[in-house]
Amino acid sequence: MASMPKFSTVISWLIYSVPIYIFVLNPLLQQVVPKPVSSLWDANYASDDWDDSAPGLNLTDDSFISPEDGVPLNCAGEPAGYKVHLLSRTPLILYIENFLSDEEADHLVDTSLNKYTPSIVYDGFTERVDPNKRLSDRALLDRDDTVRCLEDRARAFQGWRPHLYIERMWAQRYNASGHYRHHYDWTGSLARGGDRLSTFMVYLAADCEGGGTNFPRLQMPAGKQWCRFLECEDEQSEAEGGAGEGWDRATSKKDGITFKPIKGNAVFWENLRPDGTGYTETWHAAYPVTSGTKVGLNIWSWYQPPKRRR
Ligand SMILES: *[C@@H]1O[C@H](CO)[C@@H](O)[C@H](O)[C@H]1NC(C)=O
Ligand SMILES: *[C@@H]1O[C@H](CO)[C@@H](O)[C@H](O)[C@H]1NC(C)=O
Repeated sequence: MASMPKFSTVISWLIYSVPIYIFVLNPLLQQVVPKPVSSLWDANYASDDWDDSAPGLNLTDDSFISPEDGVPLNCAGEPAGYKVHLLSRTPLILYIENFLSDEEADHLVDTSLNKYTPSIVYDGFTERVDPNKRLSDRALLDRDDTVRCLEDRARAFQGWRPHLYIERMWAQRYNASGHYRHHYDWTGSLARGGDRLSTFMVYLAADCEGGGTNFPRLQMPAGKQWCRFLECEDEQSEAEGGAGEGWDRATSKKDGITFKPIKGNAVFWENLRPDGTGYTETWHAAYPVTSGTKVGLNIWSWYQPPKRRR
């Protein structure tokens, strides 16, 4: 028995070893074995170690993204400012009042008018029109002054994050019965070299009944103030048209939250976790418009991580 340390001695060793590990061993190990890039945020800086021209989507091809090409901005009609309200930290979801001025929203509606074609769905292999899943028309917006100012606003909002590219913007027009069934904006695979990191869902015109943006997996926040922007239970009978036949309508807390379409306002959310997988909480739908017309604008940010130079 003499060779066995006392129980109390073992306990003291354990207690002493914790600070030794935290303050001495771990920092030493981190020096010797640097952490691999394991987070979307790790490559959040510009450096000669990174190569932005590495394989992935062609980032100078302006049919998909809006390259920063140095054209001077003219943001005459921009809003005086916007107000931001935090809805969720993880995933990050923010509500933005007056992200666009009425003037900007009207301008985008006007310039999109002659450009609409039926919206398509992408099933991983092909793009096709599927009115059961998605019934709306979409228009690719020209990069005029207003659109360029919005691209700039979207970059600034996200802290001018490197390796983030604003996609070309599409207006989406929903007539009566127009809708988009529940879906994700991300693919959750870096197969194409990148993925959609974030989404701004902006409302350009909302002269309509129904047409809310539903997130069935999010919880109603406690503050009653949110009823300005979200459909609240006691209003549900009014918002009868939230959804129609064959839809799981949000009629109670368990059906998540539904944003009312309000002109000029936007919902912003992040689609990807730091490890590049998608947040399943971002499952969302455009509920059917029951009368009138809704025009939405998607501002998607494509994240394409740079490759480490060899
Ligand atoms: C990328 O797109 C630009 C513009 O369309 C084109 O000129 C260039 O050749 C493309 N690069 C590659 C590698 O395909
Ligand atoms: C929406 O209404 C416009 C104008 O009447 C029409 O041209 C368009 O085809 C309609 N779109 C759908 C998807 O019903």
